[in-house]
Amino acid sequence: MSDFRAIARGILQDNDRGGYTVPTAGLYPFQWNWDSAFVAMAFAEFDVPRGCLELERLIEGQWDDGMIPHIVFHQPSDSYFPGADVWRTSHRIPTSGITQPPVFGMAVKALHDSGAPAERIRPLFHAALRYHRWWYSARDPEGTGLVALLHPWESGSDNSPAWDVALARVPTTTTTPVKRKDTGHVDPAMRPRDQDYQRFIHLVDTYAACGWDAAEQWDAAPFKVACVQTTGILLAAGEGLQQLARALGEEAAAAELDAMNARSRAGLDQAWSDADSRFRSLDLVSGQRVAAPTQACFIPLLALDLPAARMAAAEQEMRRWCEGMLVSFPTTPRDYPGFEPRRYWRGSVWPIIDWLLVQGLLRNNATALAEDIRHSIVTALETAGFCEYFDPTTGEPCGGGHFSWTAAAYLHLSQLKITLSTAA
Ligand code: SER
Repeated sequence: MSDFRAIARGILQDNDRGGYTVPTAGLYPFQWNWDSAFVAMAFAEFDVPRGCLELERLIEGQWDDGMIPHIVFHQPSDSYFPGADVWRTSHRIPTSGITQPPVFGMAVKALHDSGAPAERIRPLFHAALRYHRWWYSARDPEGTGLVALLHPWESGSDNSPAWDVALARVPTTTTTPVKRKDTGHVDPAMRPRDQDYQRFIHLVDTYAACGWDAAEQWDAAPFKVACVQTTGILLAAGEGLQQLARALGEEAAAAELDAMNARSRAGLDQAWSDADSRFRSLDLVSGQRVAAPTQACFIPLLALDLPAARMAAAEQEMRRWCEGMLVSFPTTPRDYPGFEPRRYWRGSVWPIIDWLLVQGLLRNNATALAEDIRHSIVTALETAGFCEYFDPTTGEPCGGGHFSWTAAAYLHLSQLKITLSTAA
């Protein structure tokens, strides 16, 4: 029998490029923000110093305004588009100009809880605090309680059906020629379409023309979605950071985080839809709630204690999405017309999403569903390997292979012991 945990640790070792971990060689040859945060959370369970280093390398890319970019280009590579030259940012080292889901604070808290020393945690805590301040000021300037994304890549779920309506408004014209490299690494049928890339790069050109100034971008953005997944993660991280602030004796920061967290909690509360049994993001350009059902709609469980009626409805809806699936949790339900089980974020199963959902379900005492999802993904990984994501209908491994955050998710979920609650 294979030692899958040893294989997973070996993947993290192979993808180490000097204190940071690339998601996978070739397809993603740099340091990615939320990938590294998941990797650091896995390291928190067996190599705390290495976990701290992962985050320390990531914040080499943190901007003066607090933003932590979604890619840090530590060393050159020509196997990825769009590279540093396309982003045209002006940080000390080359970075992209947008961010990614703020799992970072969750990772700092996990490392602290695993015994990382205060002298390493304190600078990471302050980086996280500056990052959270940036989210609230740059991405919710009107104080609605939901933070907004200006680019689908910021969601980490690039071509999710959640963005179809908002992205369709973005022109396909670009000043930068689009020279895709991703489709040379994996089957193009598993990747976003060319038209998506035209729009992705139109947005990059638009924000580069703003000199990456946060306020100018906010005004110029043709894509602006206040996102329940990002806000749920921000709040979960913010709660951990608030506890960490107290542990570090940073009382003023604790109070500040408390206020920021309260704002997100209120925003999420308003985003719940009784009719849909899930949370819904808000398209700030049209003023409409996002109708497409995606995993994002359940990520707020991570940070909220749902009232019993809402939780029962959410759980029932999540179970409905899992019916007939070989692997859970599908990021879009099969009966939705935009469902494409192999095309990146249009229905496939992502181990790190399962990690977040399991945590959210456990918080809300839905232990049986948490265990079903955990067991399903661990089995899929042991059957098909450490791929980027899975086709939920067949269990087929999709996207890149030898994947870091998949290894991280396995290391966490394979040893997670869930006690089934006896409550009805
Ligand atoms: N996920 C994106 C890509 O596929 C970038 O963050 O390149």
